[in-house]
Amino acid sequence: MTRELGVGILGCGNISTTYFRLAPLFKGLNVLACADINRSAAMLRAEEFGVAEQSVDELLDNDEIDVIVNLTIPDAHFAVSQRILEAGKHVYSEKPLVLSLSEGEILGRLAAEKGLSVGCAPDTFLGGAHQLARAHIDSGAIGRITSGTCHVMSPGMEMWHPNPDFFFLPGGGPVLDLGPYYIANLINLIGPVKRVGALTSMAHETRTITSQPRRGAVIPVKTPTNIHALLEFVSGATITLSASWDVWAHRHGPMELYGTEGSLFVPDPNFFGGTVEASGRNRDIVSLPAWEHPFGIANQESPQGPRANYRTAGLADMALALIEGRDARCSLDRALHGVDVMTSILKSGETGAFVTLSTTCTQPAALGMEEAAQLLR
Ligand SMILES: NC(=O)c1ccc[n+]([C@@H]2O[C@H](COP(=O)([O-])OP(=O)(O)OC[C@H]3O[C@@H](n4cnc5c(N)ncnc54)[C@H](O)[C@@H]3O)[C@@H](O)[C@H]2O)c1
Repeated sequence: MTRELGVGILGCGNISTTYFRLAPLFKGLNVLACADINRSAAMLRAEEFGVAEQSVDELLDNDEIDVIVNLTIPDAHFAVSQRILEAGKHVYSEKPLVLSLSEGEILGRLAAEKGLSVGCAPDTFLGGAHQLARAHIDSGAIGRITSGTCHVMSPGMEMWHPNPDFFFLPGGGPVLDLGPYYIANLINLIGPVKRVGALTSMAHETRTITSQPRRGAVIPVKTPTNIHALLEFVSGATITLSASWDVWAHRHGPMELYGTEGSLFVPDPNFFGGTVEASGRNRDIVSLPAWEHPFGIANQESPQGPRANYRTAGLADMALALIEGRDARCSLDRALHGVDVMTSILKSGETGAFVTLSTTCTQPAALGMEEAAQLLR
């Protein structure tokens, strides 16, 4: 195999600009072409970023493409990834990988038959902040993690997204939309989950869009928008995960982990950077000294100030893993385990019973400063 993979982008909507912009930062990736069922969307990106525009079939048949990045909407992920594998190419998908375990298992079987790889976002757990948290845990500084809390709560999506309908339909909801970031980081920090239980509800059966251009339109809510889940990890740690779009304001941190020797305060797993705080047995909470991790360095302006954004790092790690014949950190088994966690949370909410997971995975290898630097050009 060559030292560089030909990359095709399939799905040229909102998040595709991030991939087009950031992929050139990384070794091993050469974005050559893009496609979308809406060809004008693909043409726009092709012109903006100097790549070829192709029909979906042409991209699937393109001999120069080794891996196709699936940036379509969640409902299309399974069918599109299946077609990519059938066309003989590796897949890297945006989250969530699929909407059911059985779909993920079909992809796994197909990939194994064809000797291909499937990778999946989120890759934000490769960020400098989350790898610092990982190094702190691995050093033994907070002892064995026994419990923790995660909170991802807001009033919803209908006040900013132009077409928020899908967020409130099956396949959407705060656990499937934002849960992947939290669960991927918990797998990074603690390992796989054993069983889950949840209470789920919805504050409203309809929502009124307040964003433009559909301000005033009333849309149905067909999936829980308020989820309180309990996760028992294989390690024995028990974590509370609250994911809600029914909360106007709150004072909870995104992620707190409590160990036998101290506590760890982890910034928002939706982003690569942020301040990591910790305490020991003396109970003084202090910021961990910032380290020079390449994926923690701010490289982007945002309304909240400078921000580190290295999305595509997971794809770059997968490309290098393919070249070196090693495990990719954003692997199929970890993404599928995440899907199992999320769909089991929703199932528990429906049935009222705890659900023991049928999948498991390993913790991904930590990504230290040198290994991260090796992914960059
Ligand atoms: N927008 C974000 O900030 C963001 C952030 C992280 C992850 N994501 C994830 O990325 C994915 C895409 O999100 P987005 O916001 O870019 O969505 P989007 O709706 O802006 O874009 C999706 C694109 O996929 C195309 N598409 C849909 N079905 C297709 C099919 N079957 N074949 C080919 N093209 C198809 C659409 O025409 C559209 O251009 C989602 O899974 C989302 O969860 C989005």
